[in-house]
Amino acid sequence: MKALKIVLAASLALAFGHAAPAQTPPPSEVSVTVDTTKAGPVIDRHIYGQFAEHLGRGIYDGVWVGEHSRIPNIHGYRKDVVEALKAIKVPVVRWPGGCFADAYDWRDGVGPRAKRPVRANLRWGGLEPNSFGTHEFLNFTELIGADAFVSGNVGSMTPLDMANWMEYMTSSENTTLTKERRRNGRDKPWQVKYLGIGNELWGCGGVMNAQYAADVSNRYAIFVRAPPGQSLIKVISGPKGLDADVYDYTDTLMKNVQDLQMLSVHQYTLRYPHPLGAIGKPRGPALGFNETDWAAMLAKAETMDTLLTGLTVVMDKDDPAKHTAIALDEWGAWYDPTPGFPPGSATQQNTLRDAEVAALTLNIFHRHTDRLKMANIAQMVNVLQAMILTDHEKFLRTPTYWIYSMYVPFQDATPYAASVSGPTVTRGEFSLAQVDVSAARGVDGKLYLSLVNTDPDRPAHVTTNLSGAATGQILTAPTMEAHNTFEAPNALHPAAYAGRSEGGRLVFDLPAKAVAVVRIQ
Ligand code: AHR
Repeated sequence: MKALKIVLAASLALAFGHAAPAQTPPPSEVSVTVDTTKAGPVIDRHIYGQFAEHLGRGIYDGVWVGEHSRIPNIHGYRKDVVEALKAIKVPVVRWPGGCFADAYDWRDGVGPRAKRPVRANLRWGGLEPNSFGTHEFLNFTELIGADAFVSGNVGSMTPLDMANWMEYMTSSENTTLTKERRRNGRDKPWQVKYLGIGNELWGCGGVMNAQYAADVSNRYAIFVRAPPGQSLIKVISGPKGLDADVYDYTDTLMKNVQDLQMLSVHQYTLRYPHPLGAIGKPRGPALGFNETDWAAMLAKAETMDTLLTGLTVVMDKDDPAKHTAIALDEWGAWYDPTPGFPPGSATQQNTLRDAEVAALTLNIFHRHTDRLKMANIAQMVNVLQAMILTDHEKFLRTPTYWIYSMYVPFQDATPYAASVSGPTVTRGEFSLAQVDVSAARGVDGKLYLSLVNTDPDRPAHVTTNLSGAATGQILTAPTMEAHNTFEAPNALHPAAYAGRSEGGRLVFDLPAKAVAVVRIQ
């Protein structure tokens, strides 16, 4: 009877494409060395940033429901979403796109809401009611305590329009535009910390080659200024991510853009290589995957390191003083949309696999803090690798949210060099290290360690060169595609976790497919 049950369980698992081994294999031996004498530049908390575009239900239903909604809200913003975002200390939000930004007229989104124009969302489909505009965005960033990153329209707006928008948002002078802002309900100027000069100028932002993009960026950047006393970081649209042209494109921008403060780069984690922004191309399902798909996504997440290393080499040549920073202002896992949702909605479930994609990517970010000063996961609510999913009154935090929650101590922490010696995980053509680590001294003075076990089946016995007591949280589950649903919104959430001492060394019993973050004291 027992044998029959095992056979039945194995065939069911195979039928659903996620074969679970009948028995847990013995743990592999992994050794971790943290060198607290080798500290890197601080992990800028802005690498924990979010991206929120007028795409699918990212804004409407996701953030904004309006003051008269029966969904509990704070001046029109979903209360559940606001509270969840505050809890993970979102440092910066990028808005209104994405490709949407380069077709956006800011004037459509100011003034009495009932009078705002309804437009077709040319990029992503559906109607854009413009109820969420400049005031709603900037007030939202203040509400959740984040910096504002406004993505300016270079593709189809003039430099003068962009300069006017900046004046409207940030000036304290008594101009016609600031009087209009006051009439629209906002007396004090807002702080806009980052301004995007276009989005994907190589693609949906205008299909520009690098030299042309550099020339156009210079033209916009010179006319758009922050008022005296306010600093503004201009983020210039950069290369496409890891493609054949990435380093030449970067080099041309580095050589030709004046006073280049931040260079934007986008790099998504894709199971299959289709061009960025392409709608309707197969990307593989978010649910119903096998161990090869698991390893593929994690190995592809690790190509972020190749990209950042390559960019650093090019940038170091042109800018040895490291004046220019990288803003990885779009990244994350991108799958086929959930069946039943339109391709342009980018609605997808989020599983333990995505939690691992997030953790591995954040650990890579911690290793590139000399250049990387901002990153924005795509996207905050209901779109792509979201923190939160909503459906009218329903709300859930995704596994990726829990990684952001567990990683809060890494915001503004000082990273240490750390190395791992252990086996690799191979499925099909994809291989990666079984255990990945990141170590940093938090702003509270404590040492934090993140441990990621990428093996879907095999636990690890991790021996470190550290000592002391380690307590924290772990995110893990029996299946690779564990996730939260509106019916079971807390099915997957972090649990308490601790290391133990063995011969004076701190050791960890790390289950298969797990992410742990501990504080050591
Ligand atoms: O995040 C979705 C889209 O991906 C963005 O609008 C665009 O910039 C990128 O191609």
